[in-house]
Amino acid sequence: MATVLQRLSRITPYFRSGRMGIVAAGLASLVAALTEPALPALMKPLLDKGFTGAGIPLWLVPVAIIGLFTLRGVAGFIAQYALTWAANQASQTLRLRLFDHLLRAEPSLFTRHSASSLTNMLVYEVQGSSQALVNSVLTLVRDSLTLVALLAYLLYLNWALTLVIGLLFPAIGWVMRTAGARVQRLTREGQHANDELAYVVEENVLAWRIVRLHGAGPSQAGRFERLSNALRRLQLKNVVASATMTPLTQMLAASAMSAVIVIALWQSSQGGQTVGGFVAFITAMLMTLPPIRHLADVMAPILRGLTALERSVDLVEDGINERGGTHSIARAAGRIEVDHVTLRYAADQASALDDFSLTISPGETVALVGPSGAGKSSLVNLLPRFIEPTGGEIRLDGVPLRDWDIDALRRQFALVSQDVVLFDDSVAANVVLGAPVDEARVRAALRGANLLEFVESLPQGVASEIGHNGSQLSGGQRQRLAIARAIYKDAPILIFDEATSALDSESERAVQSALDELMKGRTTLVIAHRLSTIEHADRVVAIDAGRLVEQGTHAELLARGGLYARLHALQFRTATGEAHEPADQPLPSA
Ligand SMILES: Nc1ncnc2c1ncn2[C@@H]1O[C@H](COP(=O)(O)OP(=O)(O)O)[C@@H](O)[C@H]1O
Ligand SMILES: [Mg+2]
Repeated sequence: MATVLQRLSRITPYFRSGRMGIVAAGLASLVAALTEPALPALMKPLLDKGFTGAGIPLWLVPVAIIGLFTLRGVAGFIAQYALTWAANQASQTLRLRLFDHLLRAEPSLFTRHSASSLTNMLVYEVQGSSQALVNSVLTLVRDSLTLVALLAYLLYLNWALTLVIGLLFPAIGWVMRTAGARVQRLTREGQHANDELAYVVEENVLAWRIVRLHGAGPSQAGRFERLSNALRRLQLKNVVASATMTPLTQMLAASAMSAVIVIALWQSSQGGQTVGGFVAFITAMLMTLPPIRHLADVMAPILRGLTALERSVDLVEDGINERGGTHSIARAAGRIEVDHVTLRYAADQASALDDFSLTISPGETVALVGPSGAGKSSLVNLLPRFIEPTGGEIRLDGVPLRDWDIDALRRQFALVSQDVVLFDDSVAANVVLGAPVDEARVRAALRGANLLEFVESLPQGVASEIGHNGSQLSGGQRQRLAIARAIYKDAPILIFDEATSALDSESERAVQSALDELMKGRTTLVIAHRLSTIEHADRVVAIDAGRLVEQGTHAELLARGGLYARLHALQFRTATGEAHEPADQPLPSA
C-alpha cells in the first residue's frame, strides 16, 4: 500500500490544477456516504411507530424518502462531475506536457517509440487512464466512507450483534475464497489436460505412417488412455468443488442469519430490541455487501491506471530534451566542415559513416552520389542535428554544431527530402510552416516550384486545404510544395535529398531552373536522383559504404573511371533502356 501511495504521489502534481474538483468530490462523497445509513434508520421509526398505532404523519413518509434520495442524487452527481472535471484537467496538463516534450525531445525518442505508441499514449491512454484512476479512487473513497457509516450505524444500533457478524463475515469470505481458488486451479489444470490430449491425437494423425511402421499403436493407445483418465478425474474433482460451493455458501449464510436472529430474539426477550430496530439492522447489514464487493475489486483498475499514467509521466520527467549551445546568429555564411565523422546507428551495426571528412565553402554546390545505403542521407541528417555523430565533429562557420543554439542552427537549413510530410492545413500554411504568412512571397515560392498554376486552379487558391498529409495532391505536387517551402524559408544552406525524385522530367526541368536560381549564393548539398543535376555542381563527392571514395568535378571524375564513372555509365544505360520515352533522357552528352 505504501508503494501505491508513493506512486500516486508521483502523479499528483498533474492533478494539482484539478484540486478543487477533488475536494468537491470528496465532500460530496462524504455526504452521499452519510445518507446511506439514513435509509435503514428511517425503517426503525416507520415500523415501530407507523405500524403500531402510535402514528406518524403520512406526509412525512414521502418527504423523508424523496428528500433523502434527492440529497443522495445531488451529492452523487457532484462527486461524479467534479472528479471527471479533475481527471480531464489532469489529462489536459499531462497531454500538453507530453506534446511539448514531443516537439523538443532528443530525436532518439522517435526511434525508441513508434508513432502509433506515442499517438496512443498522448491521445487515448492519458485520458482513459486518468479517468479510470479517478473513477476507481472515487469508488474506493465512496465505498469506504459508506462502509464506515453503515458500520458505525450498526454498532450504534446493536453493538453485540455487529461484533458477532464482524467475526462471521470474514470467516465466510475466507471459505468462499479458498473454495473459489480450488475451482479456478482445477479449471486451469483441466484445460491443460485437454490440450495434452488433443496434442496426442494430432501427433498420431500426423505420424500415422511411422506409428504403424514401428508397431507403436499399443504404446500410443496406452498414452492416450492415461491422459484421458487424468482428464476424467480432473473434471470430476472440478464438479465436486464447484457444486459444493453453492450449498456451502448457503449453509454459511444460513448459519450467520440464524445466529443473528437467535441473538436478536434473545435480546428482544430481554426487552432491548424492537421489530423496527431488527429490520433496520438487517437492512443496514445487507447494504454493506455491495461496497465490500466493490472494494475487493478496486485495486486492479487503480494499479492499471497508475501504471499507464506512470509511463507518460516517465516520458515527460525522464525524457531528455535536445540540448544546444548558445551560439546564435541570424544568418550563417555557410561554411561546413565535416571532420573525421563516424556514425553508427547501433552498436552491432556497421558504420553508416566511417571517418568521413569534407569541407564545403560558403556558396559552393556539392553533389553527393553513391549507391543506395552509402550514407548520403545520414550525412545530411547530421547537419541540422537530427542525428548525432558517434565520433568526430561537424562545424558550421567554424563553430561546432553542439555549440550552436539549436533553433538558430536549424534556421540555417532548408531541406527537401524524398519523403515529403505535409500538414492537414492550407497550401499557404504548408509553405510558410509556422512563419508569418506573406502572401506575395508564398506566391513567388509556389511559382518557383512550378506549382502556382495548379494552386490557383484550386477553388480557394493558396487558402485551399490539402487534406491529411496532402492526400489530395499527387507525388510530384507534394514534392513541389516541399520545394516551395524551402524557397520560402530562404535559408543560407540548402539540402536536397533526392528532392526531385517524384517529378516527371518536364516538371523537373521547370523546377530545376528555379532551384538553380535559389542555389545562387547559398551553400547547397544535393543528393540527386538524376545525374544531370549533378553535372552543374561545383564538386561531386562519391560515397560508398560510409566512406568518401573520390571527389572532383563531373568531368574529372568521369575521366578517372572510378565509382562515379561506373554509376554514370549505369544510369546512362538504364536511361537509354527506356527508349520509348526519349524525353526522359536525363543525361545531356558530356
Ligand atoms: N534510422 C536508422 N537506423 C538504423 N540504421 C539506419 C538508419 N538510417 C539509415 N540507416 C543505415 O545506414 C546506412 C546508410 O543509410 P542512408 O544514409 O539512408 O543511405 P543513402 O541515403 O545513401 O541511401 C544504411 O546501411 C542504412 O541501413
Ligand atoms: Mg537516402
